Amino acid sequence: MSITIAVTGKGGVGKTTISALMLQWLVAHKATPVLAVDADSNANLNEALGVSYSASVGGIREDARRQAKDLAGVAKQEFLDLRVQEALVEQDGFDLIVMGRPEGPGCYCFANNVLRDVIKRLADNYRYIVVDNEAGLEHLSRRTLLTVDHLFIVSDCTVRGVRTAGRIARLTAEMGTPVADCGLIVNRVPGGVLPDAVRAEAEAAGLPLPVVIPMDDNVAVLDAGGIAVGDIPDDAPARQAVNTLMERVHDKELLNVKR
Ligand SMILES: Nc1ncnc2c1ncn2[C@@H]1O[C@H](COP(=O)(O)OP(=O)(O)O)[C@@H](O)[C@H]1O
Ligand SMILES: [Mg+2]
Repeated sequence: MSITIAVTGKGGVGKTTISALMLQWLVAHKATPVLAVDADSNANLNEALGVSYSASVGGIREDARRQAKDLAGVAKQEFLDLRVQEALVEQDGFDLIVMGRPEGPGCYCFANNVLRDVIKRLADNYRYIVVDNEAGLEHLSRRTLLTVDHLFIVSDCTVRGVRTAGRIARLTAEMGTPVADCGLIVNRVPGGVLPDAVRAEAEAAGLPLPVVIPMDDNVAVLDAGGIAVGDIPDDAPARQAVNTLMERVHDKELLNVKR
């Protein structure tokens, strides 16, 4: 059974940056193999990791709809299985899969369900799965791929941002998405010190704060230069903060295994 870590939050809060750093921690600590899922329709996790991809699941789904029309049952399943395999970008210690553009409105066709099964089966091959979700919770509901062991809602360092994160947490609960552990990550915190008002808002929302990620010029400089943010140095404050979080997540999971 794989352990799923999902990162969510509104646009531009740092989900992709954090997902990339989480993945790198897992790979560096041999908590592998890891499947990185870019579930954002405007895919960019690959850029943060400095890898390129040629096919997305959304794209497969489109041709599958056309080509698989003539196929049925097992043949259709095998066809989709093969196409998903083709969309996997294999790297050292991890694979990346890009979900791509969402399907057209009202399309709950058979191919989608089959694809979901294919991805679920694929998931069993990995120790960890890191899902970089797009803003909102589309993927956690309509396109639910997996159950979530650790859900991290990312927010900027504002009271309003944390309020939004609280709303996302409530929505997730209402939608019945099975989440074992949910936490708030406040990102881009000036000087790494969380303002009292922001902390109070997190408490009011009932969201545990497993880590605070400082505003880090290393990230900003690489991103501005079009360089993969995954290339920030080992001692970069943002990386150190994510490392601390991942140590805790991994320790907790090791305990679960022993139990
Ligand atoms: N800790 C940080 N310090 C400085 N800049 C950051 C930090 N985290 C993210 N950023 C920057 O914020 C912007 C949004 O980050 P990104 O990870 O793409 O967010 P999202 O995936 O939520 O849309 C990017 O320009 C990124 O470089
Ligand atoms: Mg993103």
